[in-house]
Amino acid sequence: MYDFLRRLPKAELHLHIEGSLEPELMFQLAERNAITLPYTSVEEVKAAYEFDDLQSFLDLYYQGMAVLRTAEDFHDLAMDYFRRAHAEGVVHVEISFDPQAHLARGIELNVQMEGLGRARRRAERELGVSSALIMSFLRDRPAEEALHVLEQAAPYWETLDAVGLDSAEYGHPPSKFREVFARAKALGIPRVAHAGEEGPAAYISEALDLLEVCRIDHGVRCLEDPVLVERLRQERIPLTVCPLSNVRLKVVEHIDDHPLPKLLEAGLLLTINSDDPAYFGGGVLDNYLACARAFDWSRQTFIQMARNALNVAFMEEDRRRALLKDLESIPLED
Ligand code: ADE
Ligand code: ZN
Repeated sequence: MYDFLRRLPKAELHLHIEGSLEPELMFQLAERNAITLPYTSVEEVKAAYEFDDLQSFLDLYYQGMAVLRTAEDFHDLAMDYFRRAHAEGVVHVEISFDPQAHLARGIELNVQMEGLGRARRRAERELGVSSALIMSFLRDRPAEEALHVLEQAAPYWETLDAVGLDSAEYGHPPSKFREVFARAKALGIPRVAHAGEEGPAAYISEALDLLEVCRIDHGVRCLEDPVLVERLRQERIPLTVCPLSNVRLKVVEHIDDHPLPKLLEAGLLLTINSDDPAYFGGGVLDNYLACARAFDWSRQTFIQMARNALNVAFMEEDRRRALLKDLESIPLED
């Protein structure tokens, strides 16, 4: 199964670039920028990655990204990720980034955009990995701040494939960001949102109704509302599911208890993604492999997951056609 899954042309639709910061690079960047880390070794960092819930992860995630200061840092972060993803058979990545987390540390938007932009062009040129860019708003910060960032991003509106919504979910319903997302819609920018990761199924409905998102990040708690499940199925709303993330953040106790088989049985449009690969135990391929081990899925099922991701990715149609053709040419037997 490993070789088969490795060979599948996989698109990663749910990836926080700050969550791809491996401890080794964290140390390198800390040294380069003369920042003292609260750790003395890579092993110590890894040992700290024991999470009780989303918030306990976010605390370390925001702390870790403080080593990112220059455009070169953002470039190196993204290239490091692109190289690993390429080695796993990833052909297209939708990179989410959290501009507010960097602006709050005095790192200007143009620094972030320049570094990420350079890495994206280089990955396309040197590795043949295409990418899209999703500017995510932090839902645990005021909506006015998100609106301000969206306006500040005016020189980059053309570069953005979507805006998103992430960070601590409880108590920060999608409705809080109605105006921000209406503005993005008026600008012609597509919208996605995390919903139903730790938060209730009602947040998924809100994201669809009030933010008019075209896909839901996570969405696993939809199963608590059968009417919503039927809606997601009928409207073919993609869910970007991240199984290893859900285990590490204790959304589910064990991978064997993950709702993916139930979501599949319900006829939903599913994709498999890594979320924050440096924190949750691996990239897209590791997530596919975890599913293979836990659910005993057929090769056809994995092909369907990879096909779904290619079908709903923010991608040029010619590239989509070519990648779908590559996917369909993968033999089902060894
Ligand atoms: N930011 C980075 N990873 C996240 C996750 N899994 N949920 C919400 N916000 C995030
Ligand atoms: Zn996420």
